[in-house]
Amino acid sequence: MREFTPENVRLSEDGRSVVILDQRKLPNRVEYLTLSTAEEMYDAIKSLAVRGAPAIGICAGYSIYCLAQKVETENFNTFYGQFKKDKDYLDSSRPTAVNLSWALNRMEKLVLKNKEKAVSEIICLMGAEAKKIQQEDMEMCKNISEYGLSLLKDGDGVLTHCNAGPLATSRYGTAIGPMILGHERGMNFRVFADETRPLLQGARLTSYELYRAGVDVTLICDNMASLVMKNGWVQACFVGCDRIAANGDAANKIGTSGVAILAKHYGIPMYVLGPTSTIDMNCKTGDEIVIELREEDEIRSKYYKEPMALPEIKCYNPAFDVTDHELITAIVTEKGICRAPYRESLAKLFESNAE
Ligand code: MRU
Repeated sequence: MREFTPENVRLSEDGRSVVILDQRKLPNRVEYLTLSTAEEMYDAIKSLAVRGAPAIGICAGYSIYCLAQKVETENFNTFYGQFKKDKDYLDSSRPTAVNLSWALNRMEKLVLKNKEKAVSEIICLMGAEAKKIQQEDMEMCKNISEYGLSLLKDGDGVLTHCNAGPLATSRYGTAIGPMILGHERGMNFRVFADETRPLLQGARLTSYELYRAGVDVTLICDNMASLVMKNGWVQACFVGCDRIAANGDAANKIGTSGVAILAKHYGIPMYVLGPTSTIDMNCKTGDEIVIELREEDEIRSKYYKEPMALPEIKCYNPAFDVTDHELITAIVTEKGICRAPYRESLAKLFESNAE
């Protein structure tokens, strides 16, 4: 049995920096980056050295903890002023994945709740909270994988888009987790990984992870998904998510909504898998989700030996799209499987947690 458990985000030995597996270099090189300054942390998130909604949240938790250790004061207001500055700066690195602001807001809540304590004590609590975010993510991924696995049967073909595996989260991942977990239990799946233009998360990361975990994987270009579905090779589509609105509209990597439209055409169930930390109940519908626009050169020249379009050619490069809730068969969370009407089923997930 092959196991793939990358240490994608962790604290350095001295606990003062964040160490990440540089996802930009995969699959050709396994290199780690040590992030010590706010700028290094911001750049790592922005440039996708660390990526995937939950992994970004985990990285943000550790980052704000490391930055807090640099503030040399015992005065709470001075400490909080710098904390806010660092928090807002990190939060501005990428707009779409809610896990980034979710993790930072969670850290802020902790800081404010403990404002009567000594600053050194608050910093200690921040370290414990950041580790908790990662620990919880590990457990959530396992639960999501269990629920996701219950939707599959041995021998199924699954199509996935982008990367929602161990690299993007903690162990197992979300959309990839069910197949890894099932494989560990002796089941066999055939996964089709969309290469995911323009940054190739499917080619560089998903096919790498599944191969390393021993799961049968076939890489396809994004425009081959329709044929693969028509051939009858896909029994379910499993994708991750970056922000789910209260009505079930789900933002994920650009191209996901196209997969959902194809799946509907071919009568294939479309499942969105993600932790409840990716559900944004303050966001009423997908129209409110801010879609990150990235540099044109990612389309023109990134990953090519030489540019594939003239520099004068205009490009449009949104990093995400929103899949309409009507195209989603179910949303799989660590707390259970939600089905339409999503306003009710998603709201129920938060009822017992109401503060
Ligand atoms: O731009 P990326 O690579 O960060 O986009 C990632 C995705 O769209 C993932 O599907 C999503 O974050 C879920 S990861 C469990």
